[in-house]
Amino acid sequence: MYHSHLYFKTDYLFWGLYTLLTRFTVYDIPLKSILYFDKMGSESRKTFLPLDPMSFTNESKAVVDFIADYYENVEKYPVRSNVEPGYLSTMLPELPPYCPESLKDILKNVNDCIIPGLTLWQSPNFFAYFQATASTAGFLGEMLCSDFNVVGFNWISSPAATELKSIVLDWMGMLVKLPSSFLFAGTGGGVLHGSTCEAAVCVLAAARESFERAWWVGTFRIAIEDDMKSGLVPLFLCATVGTTPTGAVDPIAELGEVALKYKLWLHVDSAYAGSACICPELRHYLDGVELANSISMNPHKWFLTNMDAVIPLSRRFRALKLWIVIRKHALANLMYHIQSDIAMAKCFEALVRKDERFEVIVPRKFALVCFRLKPKMKEDEWNWKLEAINSSGRAFVSHAVVGGIYVIRCAIGATLPQEHHVVNLWKLIQEKAQSLLTEN
Ligand SMILES: Cc1ncc(COP(=O)(O)O)c(C=O)c1O
Repeated sequence: MYHSHLYFKTDYLFWGLYTLLTRFTVYDIPLKSILYFDKMGSESRKTFLPLDPMSFTNESKAVVDFIADYYENVEKYPVRSNVEPGYLSTMLPELPPYCPESLKDILKNVNDCIIPGLTLWQSPNFFAYFQATASTAGFLGEMLCSDFNVVGFNWISSPAATELKSIVLDWMGMLVKLPSSFLFAGTGGGVLHGSTCEAAVCVLAAARESFERAWWVGTFRIAIEDDMKSGLVPLFLCATVGTTPTGAVDPIAELGEVALKYKLWLHVDSAYAGSACICPELRHYLDGVELANSISMNPHKWFLTNMDAVIPLSRRFRALKLWIVIRKHALANLMYHIQSDIAMAKCFEALVRKDERFEVIVPRKFALVCFRLKPKMKEDEWNWKLEAINSSGRAFVSHAVVGGIYVIRCAIGATLPQEHHVVNLWKLIQEKAQSLLTEN
């Protein structure tokens, strides 16, 4: 054990000396400081304390202050990053450091080099794609998750991680009123993945396994039969509650009947809108879910739960994060968050409808409004116009092509937007549209 450790250090020393001799201009570090560090490193392990409670407290506070400052000033930065590809390598050293650097220097680099290269998903002027919500509760959960840093791949590797996950996933299921067949307390149960795409891969694997057992039994017709005739074997039907381009909702109950008839695995992708179904007035979008084999939703989109992604087998204790979010915000505030976003989207939709130069292309769904300037111009000019909104740095929206029509998507739902941000977005769009119409 000691031997291998020594070997590692010798290896480092060799690497450092090699770097020094061959690239001494790169680090700009005086020779004596490298030798000093080697001396410290080899003679006194006491000086290297990677998890010492005192420096943990001080450095964490510095990072917390940095984050608070970032949130306080987030509106001062351009929402969409304006850097050129490859910008970062011109700002950072080519080689990794040999000697430790101070947190102060690192945070200065984050401020000067990293933040300009970020598109600000947490800005109240971010209306693109679908939001990635964060909250204090989400941060706290994330900290505790990193604190314990367990690798919960089976029960004994951390019983609390396995058991809390079952409890929290049942809570999620209960919040959107899933049938008991989806709950651990019933005959089902859930898993926390890092993303919907990861969940879809797992669900496909499950569908394939169940299919291998059942597919001879069924009969296939219509499109499914056509698929069969051309040598394809239908296996998996995915219904979406809240599609990415327009927020559209598939009729789960009707698709469920088809899936049952043809023995297909029915999955419900409610990545965006699933969280919204905690509101009683929106729950009907999940009607028919009892016919589905699986359902996935993304708490990081609209449920104030900071995002993460993991590698399977070694699993983080992510349930802790969701548990803290649900406890700290609770159903009342989570519903308020979603309902107020929808109210702002309704206001935005009304503003668009009031201006006869514009049209709403599909009825608003959830907090997503898809609209366009009425076409007096070619599609390419629309692209240009969209670019003018985003390159202003004042807001960020994205687009979709719906039935061949190029539309602008205004997705409201990030954690910070308030009504005045939405009104300002509309003014910005009108301003850019006006210059475009004047020029043409
Ligand atoms: C309907 C829908 N499904 C799946 C995804 C992908 O989710 P993830 O990035 O978690 O894989 C999205 C992302 O916006 C989505 O809107």
